[in-house]
Amino acid sequence: MDTLAGRSLISIQDFSNEEILSLLGLAEKMAEALGWENTDDRQGPEPLDAILATLFFEPSTRTRMSFESAMLRLGGGVISMAEAKATSAAKGESLADTAQIISGYCDIIVVRHSEAGSAQIVADNATVPVINAGDGTREHPTQALTDLFCLRRHKGTLSGLKVGLCGDLKYGRTVHSLAPALARMGCELVFISPPALAMPPEIVNDVQQHSSASPVQSEELQGALADLDMLYMTRIQRERFEDPAEYERYKGVYVLDKATMKQAPDDMLIMHPLPRVDEISPEIDDDPRALYFEQATGGVPVRMALIALLLGIIEQSETRRSGLTEPT
Ligand code: NCD
Repeated sequence: MDTLAGRSLISIQDFSNEEILSLLGLAEKMAEALGWENTDDRQGPEPLDAILATLFFEPSTRTRMSFESAMLRLGGGVISMAEAKATSAAKGESLADTAQIISGYCDIIVVRHSEAGSAQIVADNATVPVINAGDGTREHPTQALTDLFCLRRHKGTLSGLKVGLCGDLKYGRTVHSLAPALARMGCELVFISPPALAMPPEIVNDVQQHSSASPVQSEELQGALADLDMLYMTRIQRERFEDPAEYERYKGVYVLDKATMKQAPDDMLIMHPLPRVDEISPEIDDDPRALYFEQATGGVPVRMALIALLLGIIEQSETRRSGLTEPT
C-alpha cells in the first residue's frame, strides 16, 4: 500500500480496497473525535496550517458544505468558489489555467464540474492534491466513500452483502463510483432501472470482473426487494436529459413508500445520496431502516479522514498501527 499523501482522488478506482478500508477506519476515529456518540467528548482541533479550496461549477449542498465543515473541524482554513461560473471562467479562462492559479492559493482542491473528465484536467494542471466532487455523469468517489462508511457501520462488514441500486443508473454519478467499490468489496449487486436508464456497459463490465456473481438487472423494484441488505435509491437526474419530455417520462418511475417497504426485509437499510425528489416518500423517514440523513452526516468524518490522508497529516501506516483497519 502506497502512502495516500500527495495523491488525488478522481475515480474510486484510484484507491485499493486496503486504502478504502483504512480510510473508513480513520473516519470512525474522526466521528469519535467529533463526539458522535457523546457530544460532551468533543475535542476541539489543533490549528492546522493548510487551506482547502472548493471549486464548484455545479450546485451542491451536502458535498461542498461537508468538505468545508471537515476542513474546519481539522483546524484548517477554507476558500471557496461556490459560484465558480461567475468567476474568471465567465471571462473564458480555461479549467487548466484556473487549476494552476488556485494551486498557488491552497494545499488541496475539491472540484465539481458538469463535464466528465474535468476533475482529471484539474488534477493534471494543479500542483496540489485534487478531489473529484462530481464530474458530470462520470463519478462521485467521495459520495461512494460516505456510502460505504454508513453501510459498514450498520452491517459491520462490506463483504457478502446484497445491494440494490435503483433509479437513474445511466446519468447518476454516485452509482458509477459506488457499484465498482461494492463489487470489489465482495457485494452482490442488483441494478434496478428502466432499460433506457440502465447502468453504462463499462460499469457493468467492471462489476462483472470484480464479483463472483454477475449483477442482476431488473426493471421492477418491488420484486427485487425480497433479500436485499441495502437498497440505494437515486434521483432521476433531470439536468442531464437533453429532451425534457424524456425526463417527464421517467420522473416518479420508482417511489419507495410505506406500502413498498412492507415487502422489504426487516433489516434492509435504505440509503440515498440526496437530494431526493419524489423517489422516497417522507412518510418512511421515521422508519428505522431509513438511513439517508445519517448517511449525509457521515460525509464530514469521511472527508476529514480523506483530507488528512491526502495532506499527509496522518499516514496510513498510523491508521494500521492503531488497529484502525480490518483485514482485507
Ligand atoms: C449527488 C450528486 O451531486 O451527484 N448529490 C450529492 O452529492 N449528494 C446526487 C444527486 O444529485 O442526485
